[in-house]
Amino acid sequence: MTDEELQKWRLEFPILEKTVYLISHSLGAMPRETFSRLNEYAEMWATRGVRAWAEGWWDMPVTVGNAVADIIGAEHESVVMHQNVSICQSLILSCFEPTPKRNKIVYSELNFPSVMYVYEAHARDGKLRIETVPSDDGITINLDRFLAAIDEETLLVPFSHVLFKSGFLQNAKAITDRAHEVGAMVVLDTYQSAGTVPFSVKDLNVDFATGGSVKWLCGGPGAGYLYVRPDLQEKLEPRTTGWMAHEEPFAFETGLRYASGIKRFLHGSPAIPALYAAQSGYRIINEIGVDRIREKSVRQTTQLIALAEEAGFKVTSPKDAADRGGTITVGHDEAAAITRELIRREFIVDYRPGAGVRISPHFYNTDEEIDLVVREMKEIRDTRAYAIHETAGAAF
Ligand SMILES: Cc1ncc(COP(=O)(O)O)c(C=O)c1O
Repeated sequence: MTDEELQKWRLEFPILEKTVYLISHSLGAMPRETFSRLNEYAEMWATRGVRAWAEGWWDMPVTVGNAVADIIGAEHESVVMHQNVSICQSLILSCFEPTPKRNKIVYSELNFPSVMYVYEAHARDGKLRIETVPSDDGITINLDRFLAAIDEETLLVPFSHVLFKSGFLQNAKAITDRAHEVGAMVVLDTYQSAGTVPFSVKDLNVDFATGGSVKWLCGGPGAGYLYVRPDLQEKLEPRTTGWMAHEEPFAFETGLRYASGIKRFLHGSPAIPALYAAQSGYRIINEIGVDRIREKSVRQTTQLIALAEEAGFKVTSPKDAADRGGTITVGHDEAAAITRELIRREFIVDYRPGAGVRISPHFYNTDEEIDLVVREMKEIRDTRAYAIHETAGAAF
């Protein structure tokens, strides 16, 4: 797909008509098709009523998971949909019983906080130990230091493929290989990589992967996903569970008999509207292909770095394309206030403490928009137009 062909997709995203939308690390633009998907959901409920469950709804956590599997390089029937990453992490953790010899969780201090909260809360009873690997610069994690923390006492290594704050792309293969070498398992959080960085959970050989659809997948909230390596599935019995994980849910038995395969990682009734909404984003990402998206992303993020530096800004995300995902962060003492002024002017970006203004072009952004956002930031800085927001923090 040429750049010109990619530009045609712009017409499919209504918000691009009114804003310079550069926030796909947070909430990707809604595809126009999502209006009809949600209408389809309402139509189904209105006309088929309770029969809708048997006519597709009940299977959606797995059938929709198959579309995600195509994006993250997983086999069909190895991904199930849940509401969000935090739930998926709790569910994974509930499959394990820490022992005095294997009770350590290793992650970095730049992990997504919600993921850390899950492990912290479970560590309160003293059965789990957490080793947090520090970052030297608040942007990257030293690979050797991370690998050294993973030892024979490590149970799980939940880590982000791409760090949410700085866009740093971690070496998932090296971390997974090290974990396996010492008998530990990894949980790869692909929220900030899926849809913008090509990878295959199968090739990486990760044990679990989690992510969601809000960002690069343009699928909206409520459609998190959980991948479990096929050969592990039958060996695990999650304690965070529900009737969808039962072999025969409609037998309404009093005891839990786990379903075979990926279905045993299900929970209670699924969030059907979210699963309808998410599908248009997956279809588009699969149609374009993540390789093509990455090619354009590397070109535009490189352009963004060059323009920002030329304008006198400090780029805080990694400069080498091989070390970053789809986000560029621009540091400035007044980054929070500059962000608020950018948003007021319909340049949709966000701010994170310690990183600065986060800017993320996706396949639907033009090169001109990259020029425009840097020009606008420069103008806001030079004229001190940000001063009206000076006490601001992050808006979202
Ligand atoms: C790396 C990463 N993990 C997880 C999340 C969100 O977690 P949840 O789906 O539990 O809201 C985000 C959202 O910003 C993220 O960037």
